[in-house]
Amino acid sequence: MLDTDSFKKVFLSELDKAASTSELQQVRIKYLGKKGLLTAQLKNLSTMPAEEKRSFGKAVNELKGFVENEIALKESALGNADLKKRLSSETIDVTLPGKYTPVGREHPINKVLREIEDIFISMGFGVEEGPQVELDYYNFEALNMPKDHPARDMQDTFYITDDVILRTHTSPVQIRTMEKKKPPLRFIAPGKVYRCDADISHTPMFHQVEGLMVDTDISFSDLKGVLETFIHRIFNPETSVRFRPSFFPFTEPSAEVDIGCIFCKGSGCQVCKGTGWLEILGAGMVNPRVFEMVGYNPAIYTGFAFGMGVERITMLKYGIDDIRLFFENDLRFLRQF
Ligand code: DAH
Repeated sequence: MLDTDSFKKVFLSELDKAASTSELQQVRIKYLGKKGLLTAQLKNLSTMPAEEKRSFGKAVNELKGFVENEIALKESALGNADLKKRLSSETIDVTLPGKYTPVGREHPINKVLREIEDIFISMGFGVEEGPQVELDYYNFEALNMPKDHPARDMQDTFYITDDVILRTHTSPVQIRTMEKKKPPLRFIAPGKVYRCDADISHTPMFHQVEGLMVDTDISFSDLKGVLETFIHRIFNPETSVRFRPSFFPFTEPSAEVDIGCIFCKGSGCQVCKGTGWLEILGAGMVNPRVFEMVGYNPAIYTGFAFGMGVERITMLKYGIDDIRLFFENDLRFLRQF
């Protein structure tokens, strides 16, 4: 006969020992599985006399209900314990400081370069580019500086071969663009240039922005208007502007453009060496000889050109006194812009 009490006792002690859901599963299989203990008891039914069948069947079914119920209770108890364990082991301390991800930013030279471009683009100028490794022809010859021209001395050049150099200025882009396009022309040419030169205000590589405007009736007053507008926007609208006679082989007449010293407002200081003025760019009317070199008829076309150093303008804008700071990549310097 079935001793339900001792059956329950054994079952409960085994259930008690199950400490995890997988151990509980073993108990479930042992008692309720297809080959489990209770299923085995039910199989005895078929061989029993009819009068015993009823009470035996009832007892086994009750036992089965009891076992199922106890297992379900244990299961939810184990589940709660599991959850508690996970909650405490996986807690997040939301007061801890986050992980620091350093964020990059634009280099001050690129920032000012972009400002310069934006100003000229707003005045209808396009943007052209040319190679940094340049032919002597474009860098000098076509700009009215033949091989023995003394003006070449001003630009100490890096030579690749006798005829191939690192460009010393962005002016060769004037020639390359005029060879490709017919007037009217209005563009700037920003880029890197190279000179064999290094001190507190010179680095072997620096940036220039060239400008060129060509049409049938461009005059010096167009040049003044464009450059004054540019200077007032890149510095401030109160900046005074002065054109001083100068010489460049590729322009005639030529001028150097000064701005009233933005540090002393013209009264004279260390930066402007007491003059009250700061030189910021070179400019002039395109020399007819240059037009001839590219096949433009100088009797029909006139134009102006200008060239400026981006480092110089950036140094003046931000009061930086050593050009080498731009290229040392010291983050303490670069983060200030
Ligand atoms: N290319 C000259 C230099 O690097 C700057 C310059 C002066 C450019 C006058 C021009 C210009 O286009 O008209 O020193």
